[in-house]
This record gives sequence, C-alpha cells and structure tokens, in this order.
Amino acid sequence: MAHLVVPGEPDRRLFSPPSRHAVLADDRLSADAALRTLSSGVALLWRGDFPAARRLLDALARRLPSPPPDDFARYRADRARRARLLSLLHAPLDPGYVVPLRRAPDVRAACTGVYGPSDVPAAVPLRELLGVLSAAEWRRTGVEVPALGARIHPHYGVFAPLRPEYVDLVAAAPLPGTELAFDIGTGTGVLAAVLAHRGVERVVATDASARAVACARENLTRLGFGERAEVVRTDLFPPGRAPLVVANPPWLPGRPRTPLDHAVYDPGHRMLRGFLDRARRHLTPHGEAWLVLSDLAEHLGLRTRAQLLAWIEAAGLRVLDRTGTPARHPRALDEADPLHRARAAEVTSLWRLSPQR
Ligand SMILES: C[S@@+](CC[C@H](N)C(=O)[O-])C[C@H]1O[C@@H](n2cnc3c(N)ncnc32)[C@H](O)[C@@H]1O
Repeated sequence: MAHLVVPGEPDRRLFSPPSRHAVLADDRLSADAALRTLSSGVALLWRGDFPAARRLLDALARRLPSPPPDDFARYRADRARRARLLSLLHAPLDPGYVVPLRRAPDVRAACTGVYGPSDVPAAVPLRELLGVLSAAEWRRTGVEVPALGARIHPHYGVFAPLRPEYVDLVAAAPLPGTELAFDIGTGTGVLAAVLAHRGVERVVATDASARAVACARENLTRLGFGERAEVVRTDLFPPGRAPLVVANPPWLPGRPRTPLDHAVYDPGHRMLRGFLDRARRHLTPHGEAWLVLSDLAEHLGLRTRAQLLAWIEAAGLRVLDRTGTPARHPRALDEADPLHRARAAEVTSLWRLSPQR
C-alpha cells in the first residue's frame, strides 16, 4: 500500500481523495482486475507507462454501464458513482508537478496554474489530471465567439461559451440604454464583453467564483475593455441600479458536485430566483432585466414554464418579450446519450423583463 498525498492547492474542493491508500499498479494489470480493485473502494497508484494508464481509464469507462435515461436524479447519481470509481485511478506527481512515469506529458505549467506551486510528492486522479491538461489547452487556444469577432479564453472550472446561440441572443436584443449594465454571474466575462462591444459605456460584472472573476478580468482586459468593465466577486448584484441587468444562471436545478457544476447546477433555483427577486431593486425605472435560460430543465421535468412565469410575476416583473432559438450543441447529439430527447428539443431563450408598473 502506498500513501496518497494530494497536491497542496488553494481550492481543496478540487480534490476529495476517495481513499488514503492505494495499491501500486502497472501495465500488467488487466482492466477487469483493475475494475475489481476499484469497485472494492481501493485506489490504484499507477507506476507503468502513462499512455497505458489512459488506455486503462478508457477500458474501465467502457466496462461501466450507462446511466438510466428515464430519471434525471438517478442519472446524475449514477454519473457521480461512475466518476468516483474512475477517480480512484491515480497518477503520481513528484514535487513541482513532474509525472514520474514513462512517456508522461509535461503537466508542470497546467498544474501550477490550477493548484498553485507544490513542493511535496502527491498523487492525483488521472481523470482529474487529464481534465487539467485539456483545460490548459483550451485556455491557451480559446473559444471563438462570433458575436465578438474574437476569442474568449476559459480558465479551468469556468463555464465556457461553447454554445453561440445564447451569446447571439444578447448580441441582438435592443439595448434599453448604453450608460451602464450589470452582468450577473459573468463566468468568462463573455456577456459583459458583448455588451461593451455593443457600446455600453460601463459594465459591472459579478461572479461568486474566484476563478471566474480572474478569468473574466483577463478576458475583458485582453479584449481592450479593461477600463470600461469592472469585475467584482460577490453574490449576485453589485450595489446600485442600472438600465440593464443581465444574467445567464446555471440552467438546471441540482446540487453541484465539482467546481464546474456550480456553473451548470443551481441548487433549488437559488441564482435564478435571486436574480428575479432582486432585479427590481437594481433597475432604473425604465430598465430591463435580461434572463438567458434554456428550457432543458422543463424537458427533464425539473421545472415548469408556469413556475417560471409565476416567479417572474412574484418578483414584480413583467415579460416584455421572449426570443427563443433551438439550442446548438457543441458536438452532434448522440442518440445513445440518455438526455438525447431533452437536448434535441431544447430551446434557449432571452427573456426581456421590466418592472411592473
Ligand atoms: C451558466 S454560467 C454563465 C456564465 C456567463 N455569464 C456566460 O453566459 O457564459 C453561470 C455563472 O454564474 C455564477 N454564479 C452562480 N451563482 C452565483 C451567485 N450567487 N452570484 C454570482 N454568480 C453566481 C457561476 O459561477 C457561473 O460563472
């Protein structure tokens, strides 16, 4: 048994080491034998070839049954169980994030960027390490945002604007004014950038996540909006009122389990309802609240349209207009995807709301 130490990093939630002990494993271990070990809750610490560890991870994933399509709560619970099991396969990290395995990639910059400096030996779930590596590559290359005519560079754990339709909706709606806008839950800063690009003179963007705040600041500065856009770490709204407040809250109710989940899952619709309930207090008299929301939750039976309309009304807001567009998914929809039917029917909308008079 080897002792597992996880890298010292500022955001401990990234790591929840499932087991403090691991059995050493290398290329001689079959996927079936590995699955038996992991299923008993014992972690594996890889000592073989790095590409072989990747192949083992794929082989393990193929051996795990697909989650049930019919029930979203069961689907998520199953996915989480699957993720926990696959995360028991660990790669060793020497001080300074050197992977002491044959044919291992150089992960030093990517890991330092996510976890901060390290001077102790550690182990990290291989799945996690591959995620960190692909996030670093994504951060380097960025995502093309047609509405901006520029690229947005997502940081690790920050919601990336991979679906252009919601950005296009914000780029096309008639602006109620151009002096000031608030972008609530800014993520990469993409919607704040679109508003600045459209001529809004000052944008205050907020996010609850420190990673998102750093990411948005970097993107807005890189795009030349650093002087006109301020990014603040806070819960929902900054102080004051604006003619336009915009939010693209996480689209599904549910408990977040990973850092990125905070951008996808909104426990009990907290951000959605908080945005609606507090919007009036942050709008100038003729101002508008723009809510970007997909109806995926409705297709999954997690929220009804009537509920959403009742929340809007209870917040003292009325619907000026709703523009909807079929969701465009970054990858072609896969019929084997248990959520295929809901995703195929999904419509993303921009709700323009104003205070009731
Ligand atoms: C779906 S993402 C949208 C990001 C970005 N606005 C976009 O459209 O790409 C939702 C964002 O809201 C942030 N968020 C969640 N709860 C929040 C809260 N209470 N206050 C501020 N931001 C919050 C998340 O961290 C995440 O960045």
